[in-house]
Amino acid sequence: MVNKSKRVCPVERTKWLDVGLRKWAHNPKKFLREFIKDNMVILDVGCGSGFFTIKIAEMLGNSGKVIAADLQEGMLNKVKQKIKGREIEERIVLHKCNKNEVGISEKVDLVLAFYMVHEVPDENKFFKEIKSILKPDGIFYVVEPKFHVSKIDFKNSINKAAELGFKPIKEPRIFWSRAIIFKKCS
Ligand SMILES: C[S@@+](CC[C@H](N)C(=O)[O-])C[C@H]1O[C@@H](n2cnc3c(N)ncnc32)[C@H](O)[C@@H]1O
Repeated sequence: MVNKSKRVCPVERTKWLDVGLRKWAHNPKKFLREFIKDNMVILDVGCGSGFFTIKIAEMLGNSGKVIAADLQEGMLNKVKQKIKGREIEERIVLHKCNKNEVGISEKVDLVLAFYMVHEVPDENKFFKEIKSILKPDGIFYVVEPKFHVSKIDFKNSINKAAELGFKPIKEPRIFWSRAIIFKKCS
C-alpha cells in the first residue's frame, strides 16, 4: 500500500506554498531570526519553490550562503526563476538531491527541513546524513504539517533523531505545524 504521507509534493502545487497568508503565518524573519548570523552556510532541504530560501538569503545580507536543495528539478527551476537578476542570486546555490541522499559535501551551520521530513523515504538515513553535514553545535530545525503528521508520529521522529545524536533545545509554536529545534551533539 502507498503511504500517502510519503508522497512528494508535486511541482504543480507550489502555488499553495507561496500563498499570501503563509507569508504571515510562516514568517521566517520571526522564527529563524535568532539563529541566523553573518557568514553562515544554511541548508534549506526540500526547499520547494524557495519560500524560505529567499527570505533566509535576504536575512544573511552580503555574507553567507543558502544551499537550496530539492529532489525535484521543477522546484529548483522555480527558485531559479524567482532569484534571477536579484542581488540574492549570488548567495543561493541550487542543489539537486537524490531520493535517498541529500548529497551535500560542504559542512553547514543550520539545516531547515520545513514540511519535508514526512516525504523522506528513510528517516533514519536522512537524520544520519544531516548529522554528518552539520558543523559541531549546528542547528537542525524541523517543521512538519499537522494535517499530515500526527502528534505521535512527530514524537517518534523526535525520538529517532535524539537516538542518533540530536539534542532537542526548543519547541517553537508555528501555525498549522509541529516544530522542533535540535542541536547536534558532538
Ligand atoms: C511540501 S514541500 C515544502 C517546500 C518548502 N520547504 C516550503 O515549506 O515551502 C516538500 C518539498 O520537499 C521535497 N522533498 C521530498 N522528499 C525529498 C528528499 N528525499 N530530498 C530532498 N527533497 C525532498 C519535495 O520535492 C518538495 O519540494
